[in-house]
Amino acid sequence: MPGILLETLRGNNARRRPLWLMRQAGRYLPEYRELRAEKGGFLALVYDTDAAAEITLQPIRRFGFDGAILFSDILIVPYAMGQDLQFLAGEGPKLTPRLVDNALEGLTRVPERLSPIYETVRKVRAQLDDDKTMLGFAGSPWTVATYMVAGEGSRDQHDTRAMAYRDPGAFEAIIDAVIQVTVEYLCGQIEAGAEAVQLFDSWAGSLSPAQFERWVIAPNAAITAAVKARHPETPIIGFPKGSGEKLPAYARETGVDAVGIDETIDPIWAARELPQGLPVQGNLDPLLLLAGGEDLDRQARAVLDAFADRPHVFNLGHGIGQFTPIANVEQLLAIVRSWER
Ligand code: CP3
Repeated sequence: MPGILLETLRGNNARRRPLWLMRQAGRYLPEYRELRAEKGGFLALVYDTDAAAEITLQPIRRFGFDGAILFSDILIVPYAMGQDLQFLAGEGPKLTPRLVDNALEGLTRVPERLSPIYETVRKVRAQLDDDKTMLGFAGSPWTVATYMVAGEGSRDQHDTRAMAYRDPGAFEAIIDAVIQVTVEYLCGQIEAGAEAVQLFDSWAGSLSPAQFERWVIAPNAAITAAVKARHPETPIIGFPKGSGEKLPAYARETGVDAVGIDETIDPIWAARELPQGLPVQGNLDPLLLLAGGEDLDRQARAVLDAFADRPHVFNLGHGIGQFTPIANVEQLLAIVRSWER
């Protein structure tokens, strides 16, 4: 029996609302911090497939979420495209050489850097109950390119937006290369046991409407079409964070099976404006989960009520923060679990 998460992503209204949280495996969990200290670093964890499988399962064991999201990172794709990747404590990720002053042609692909991730998917799926859904993921080309070009996270994706205007041909070559590797990567995850996949476009919100069409909608549509050609049954969730009023166009034009919405979106607006019957995922503010209290109850119910009439996956509007109290996650679970259609 497929679980309620997969059923919902396929467009059915389950009686109970499925729930998982972006970044549900991570530093807010003491059992994650313990394993991370033991293994010595984030990439070491990702490439130790037993550890990565264990971390993927930790939040399922503790909370019984309906989906287990693969423990990896969106920057594994640039790493497999030949950039060097480091996660420095307190500084975030660093990719070298950065493409702002280097050519894509200078990179040599290292596809072996993807294979261990598939091994992790297989190990998780083998240990996961049938009613839980194994979720794979990748970054969307725009968001991944912002890290490849700048070599690190940047406040408003300044260098990458400038490059996309100044040299759209060179920038398109980067986007096309990311599309190609991402399609292989997602298909590899699906073939290893991922039952649905999510495309994270975390920085979609920094683009003007025409640039959004070109660098967000078009690449997400290309990936969706190519993955669907090989795996038509596997739902694809698109999460174009920060895209606001551009969400309905994103939903219509990309062909994704479900749309993730961030906490800046009014759920009542989303329920009205997004294509009828399209599954929606989101969108409790992660900082409200951190703060807790009665407002958490009230807003969680408001999200549940807003999407009462369409397939809806309960989630946050972005990843769970590292200082979120476990008790608040338990409080949220109780609210979502007790709500029935
Ligand atoms: O959701 C999950 O639990 C699955 C694993 C996952 C991670 N990163 C693990 C991780 C997923 C889906 C991601 C996605 C990701 N990674 C995004 C898109 C979503 C988003 O949050 O916007 C982005 C932009 C990245 C890039 C990235 N990875 C940054 C900027 C950082 C440093 C900031 C930070 O939070 O530490 C990471 C590191 C990272 N990825 C950690 C985890 C658990 C923290 C590593 C650690 O220090 O233990």
